[in-house]
Amino acid sequence: MAAIIDGKTISTQIKDELKQKAAELHERGVEVTLAVIQVGDNPASSVYVRNKKKGCEYIGIGSLSYELPEETTQEELLALIQELNGRKDVNGILVQLPLPSHIDEDTVIKAIDPKKDVDGFHPQSVGALCIGQKGFVSCTPAGIIQLLKRSGVSIEGKECVVLGRSNIVGKPMSILLLRENATVTIAHSRTKNLKEVTGRADILIVAIGKPKMITREYVKEGAVVIDVGINRDENNKLCGDVDFEDVEPVCSAITPVPGGVGPMTIAMLLNNCIESVELQS
Ligand code: GUN
Repeated sequence: MAAIIDGKTISTQIKDELKQKAAELHERGVEVTLAVIQVGDNPASSVYVRNKKKGCEYIGIGSLSYELPEETTQEELLALIQELNGRKDVNGILVQLPLPSHIDEDTVIKAIDPKKDVDGFHPQSVGALCIGQKGFVSCTPAGIIQLLKRSGVSIEGKECVVLGRSNIVGKPMSILLLRENATVTIAHSRTKNLKEVTGRADILIVAIGKPKMITREYVKEGAVVIDVGINRDENNKLCGDVDFEDVEPVCSAITPVPGGVGPMTIAMLLNNCIESVELQS
């Protein structure tokens, strides 16, 4: 029987620690505020944005909400970001992705002041991460490191395989694992002999976006399996990229979906909001 890595409990622990830090900042007269921008009304984005605002409330920091219509122009969005960049009472700026197709995401991300880039998506934040300098770290991979550490999984010297190479998860994940002294392999949709590669992993992190793709043939006995996927199965039930029922009996620890990696992303966003105070001072 594998240990179930409980992201809900661990994320609540982190949020309670952040609540304490927010209260200490408040006592020093420092208020922290996150600005959240959503363009259009993508239902999944609306849920994420609502949960981010709820998270701010939970730890006792402010949030400003900008719900812009689908037909907002890129210039209008850039003008709002410029305004928020200049506001002393705004510490973090988050533009919920995806954006409507007439807006270029890279241009928008680059417009955010790197000192307020609490998503860690700005090229400067990514570059700083790569060379070990101070900056914001992308929330999902940062949350996975916390999940591993707080579950007592040691990373140093381990064979880690990251399946998926996205800018938001796979690439920063591999750099963070390297920073923890793991031996890291990035695998993806074109990797040859994938089962052989994933089968070497002591820690397997799956962010490939294919429902229940990873069955026990991909997993070494006793491995730790982290599932980043959020998909709907044939019965419209939430499921990960890992076939949980099939893999759970052969691994030593595994994250469920929902309740594994998901709740950690918001906890780390809130962590970045609190850290922004130091970066901005
Ligand atoms: N869309 C899906 N995940 C994220 C995220 O972590 N940040 C933002 N800004 N948009 C997202």
